[in-house]
Amino acid sequence: MEINIKNLNELRNFSKKFANCLKGNEIILLYGNLGAGKTTFTKYLVSSINPELEDDVNSPTFTVMNIYETEKFPVYHIDLYRIKDFDISDIIGTGVIVIEWSEYIKLENLDVPIIKIKILTEGEEERKLIIEFENAENIKKCLSE
Ligand SMILES: Nc1ncnc2c1ncn2[C@@H]1O[C@H](COP(=O)(O)OP(=O)(O)O)[C@@H](O)[C@H]1O
Ligand SMILES: [Mg+2]
Repeated sequence: MEINIKNLNELRNFSKKFANCLKGNEIILLYGNLGAGKTTFTKYLVSSINPELEDDVNSPTFTVMNIYETEKFPVYHIDLYRIKDFDISDIIGTGVIVIEWSEYIKLENLDVPIIKIKILTEGEEERKLIIEFENAENIKKCLSE
């Protein structure tokens, strides 16, 4: 699936729609260069559920993982830019796991839904999202509605 985003506001709208499709056990793998918008997407995803958490969502580059307790489910926000190896086996299925720099994670034979989102920078505010789904047909369907 490809989504063209014209500006920050459209990303905010898409993130909200996306959040509404989640059940709470998904792994979201984010790909994209520095400044593509991985952290911004995560921020909007969390704040669409709980607006007061918006300022809490920042790149966990120095902490590896931040946890945001939204009213729907915990969101585990992981950034592998510096620490390129992180064991998520204990948290899989217990919340939504969002990973920046997913190139560095190896996941094998998981039965939880996995959504891969590649963010391409097309202009100052224009982005293209290329989204792939594994065990996540219901989310694909939800996003297409
Ligand atoms: N449509 C957009 N989507 C995402 N970020 C955007 C967009 N337009 C502008 N930006 C800006 O691009 C930057 C993205 O930074 P960030 O989310 O930290 O990227 P990353 O985590 O991928 O390194 C932010 O300053 C954000 O405001
Ligand atoms: Mg980031």
